[in-house]
Amino acid sequence: MEKRMISTEFTEEDMPIESSLRPMALADYIGQEKVKKNLKVYIEAAKSRQEALDHCLFYGPPGLGKTTIAGVIANEMGVHLKVTSGPAIEKPGDMAAILNNLQEGDLLFVDEIHRLNRQVEEVLYPAMEDFAIDIMIGKGSSARSIRLDLPKFTLVGATTRAGLLTAPLRDRFGVICKMDFYTESELKKIILRSANVLNIEIDDAGAEEMARRSRGTPRLANRLLKRVRDFAQVQYDGKIDYEVAKASLDRMEVDKMGLDRSDRLILTTIMEKFAGGPVGLDTLAAAIGEDAGTIEDVYEPYLIQNGFINRTPKGRVATQLCYKHFGIEH
Ligand code: ADE
Repeated sequence: MEKRMISTEFTEEDMPIESSLRPMALADYIGQEKVKKNLKVYIEAAKSRQEALDHCLFYGPPGLGKTTIAGVIANEMGVHLKVTSGPAIEKPGDMAAILNNLQEGDLLFVDEIHRLNRQVEEVLYPAMEDFAIDIMIGKGSSARSIRLDLPKFTLVGATTRAGLLTAPLRDRFGVICKMDFYTESELKKIILRSANVLNIEIDDAGAEEMARRSRGTPRLANRLLKRVRDFAQVQYDGKIDYEVAKASLDRMEVDKMGLDRSDRLILTTIMEKFAGGPVGLDTLAAAIGEDAGTIEDVYEPYLIQNGFINRTPKGRVATQLCYKHFGIEH
């Protein structure tokens, strides 16, 4: 097989710089309590049977710790972690090579698993179910398929949209977990933990203000922490308190509810250009020059969950809270 034997690429936001901020043990993982509690049982049970953990699927908006939890599982199971992503695997042969290179018990993490193409996905079916792959040998009338046994492994898939997964793939996961947005108090703990790892001085009020504006998302909280540290260092005395956090986040145009410029553009467009809606997703996407899928996967979940927009059969509608937040008469 050629070069792309195994892909250990990280997506842009999962670069190793973030990795030190990632907990390794389940006990250090903050939030997602329900997911954690169940996983603890599944991990303990699999370990005591000396089996590989069943295949797991994590779904939910970006930045909520799907990759992190895959690392935690591998660490808790004491197995290797191989990381790849749906778009990185172009050919069935690439997937076959990745699977064939796994060792007994290994954990294969496939990010954006909904983006695997159909032929590649089909390699996964027997691999997940029977720990085997079928390889075609020869061509034309003499072609035949031989079955190659694989080591018992665990596939961990992550997706922003479980609904986009094909039924045969989804059905082959023994564990399916939804990742929720984090509460302010969970984000505060994550920010304090990260500040400790990065040697940043921050007080409680500073961490609370940052948590309020982190959009329920640890990845964002950690990114904002690094930027607020820059402001603290250059324009203040290096320490992050309430004033420093507030002034820095205002400068970065992250508002009191954690909405950024893109969120605000989506909301003000619905209110001002479409009279509050309903407006169809594609129309909205065209109006702001953003990809419809990105609006749906990245921006909308938080805006819906926090009551800024409603999704109706006719399209998106701005809520009363949305008008109030922007001080726009309705
Ligand atoms: N860093 C990023 N996500 C985290 C989490 N859920 N718990 C602890 N630290 C984190």
